[in-house]
Amino acid sequence: MNITIIGTGYVGLVSGTCFAEMGNTVTCVDIDDAKVEKLRAGTLPIYEPDLEHYFARNRKEGRLHFTTDLRAGIADSDVIFMALPTPPGADGEADLSYVLGAAGDVADLLRAEDDADYRIIVNKSTVPVGTADKVRDVMTERGLVPGTDFDVVSNPEFLREGAAVDDFMKPDRVVIGTSSDRAAEIMERLYEPFVRQGNPILVVDERSAEMIKYAANSILATRISFMNEIANLCEKVGANVDKVRLGISKDHRIGRHFLYSGIGFGGSCFPKDVQALARTGAQNDYNFQILNAVLDVNDAQRRLMVDRLDDYFDGDLAGKTIALWGLAFKPNTDDIREAPAHVIIEGLLERGANVVAFDPEAIETTREVFGDAITYADSMYDALPDADALVICTEWHEFRRPDLGKVRDLLKAPLIFDGRNVFEPQRMANMGFAYYSIGRPHVAPQQDDEAIEAALATNGQA
Ligand SMILES: NC(=O)c1ccc[n+]([C@@H]2O[C@H](COP(=O)([O-])OP(=O)(O)OC[C@H]3O[C@@H](n4cnc5c(N)ncnc54)[C@H](O)[C@@H]3O)[C@@H](O)[C@H]2O)c1
Repeated sequence: MNITIIGTGYVGLVSGTCFAEMGNTVTCVDIDDAKVEKLRAGTLPIYEPDLEHYFARNRKEGRLHFTTDLRAGIADSDVIFMALPTPPGADGEADLSYVLGAAGDVADLLRAEDDADYRIIVNKSTVPVGTADKVRDVMTERGLVPGTDFDVVSNPEFLREGAAVDDFMKPDRVVIGTSSDRAAEIMERLYEPFVRQGNPILVVDERSAEMIKYAANSILATRISFMNEIANLCEKVGANVDKVRLGISKDHRIGRHFLYSGIGFGGSCFPKDVQALARTGAQNDYNFQILNAVLDVNDAQRRLMVDRLDDYFDGDLAGKTIALWGLAFKPNTDDIREAPAHVIIEGLLERGANVVAFDPEAIETTREVFGDAITYADSMYDALPDADALVICTEWHEFRRPDLGKVRDLLKAPLIFDGRNVFEPQRMANMGFAYYSIGRPHVAPQQDDEAIEAALATNGQA
């Protein structure tokens, strides 16, 4: 099939590359000249595991193209995907101007063609309930006939950054929202190679498809905020959230995913999608109380580390140097949108602290936001010399097994605030660290040098 993807960001680029990998011819369109130039030169603008390999192969085999010219981009397409931004507006409502603007542009171009072929216009962006109708209206107002010239499909995307290629290639399910049998049949054909292992393609009405995406992200965000509240209460009552998680996750009704406590969720999806669904509720005279609480809990959780550091240093963070490991909103991505680390950096800078930060992939994206206001380290150890404390914000693999003897030697004092619970409190205490994590009892650090040396030699075993 000939596919057009309008919007070549995380979703557009991954979707386009994976469709090409299945033998389709794909043209990705973007308005960002520099990005398209880069892509045409063979350079990826984002970091995403496995993407490079598929990207290179499909470019080489002539199945993956990039352009800024929408007319050329849609010329031969059977299916046109819109993977465009839907950022929150002032009141949390999703901003549909990108999606509706592009739909209008596509309609104008199709109308200008003599005998334009039937096209499917797909909303791949996360869009509020009713958006498929709005897209259909925009295109109809421009003179196209629904069902004859085009059909609209809502096809929400569930990929996770950091595992996006794998998620796209082997989706748990594909959701196709449409009232057109013709469009449904073409979309099923397109996705059939991705579900060979038996996962379902669910064909539903447009509104349900749109709601499925918001409901999925909102329930995941709710689990995170819920577990963060459990963790906060564990600290107050002397329970250990790790053990609580284990205990509840063995219950089949609950399962084991999204039960980790930490410093809150971020990224380009959860915060905005929860807000947008709450806003949809408000617009429909429905107070979606849980979602408002989920967001409030998350805001507080993202500030937790700064409050803890502030308490530890008796309200005097000015002039202190804080090392930060992890800037991306989660591991395996360079995406820093709404990252908890950034809320922490802002809080530390406001209090006059110096920040030295390291991330395996997200230094450049962070530099675009903070410029020279913080210092960027070349490695996790380079962030430590003379730092008064280390804060762990993202659970990259390499942070899980560092040389803790070296960490001790480099830090001014052995003090770690772990926002992702990557270490075991008792072991850290054995190695002489003052170690504060989320929802787990603090263990007083070993003071005896010989015992500390012995523990360091065995990675914390007493
Ligand atoms: N990032 C994710 O993990 C993820 C997952 C599922 C769904 N989504 C949803 O998918 C949508 C896109 O998200 P993203 O993270 O890929 O966004 P993104 O910001 O990474 O990419 C959007 C791209 O669209 C381009 N663009 C803007 N206006 C354009 C226009 N008129 N024509 C052509 N290109 C244009 C931008 O230059 C940019 O490259 C959003 O609705 C998001 O909520 C994102």
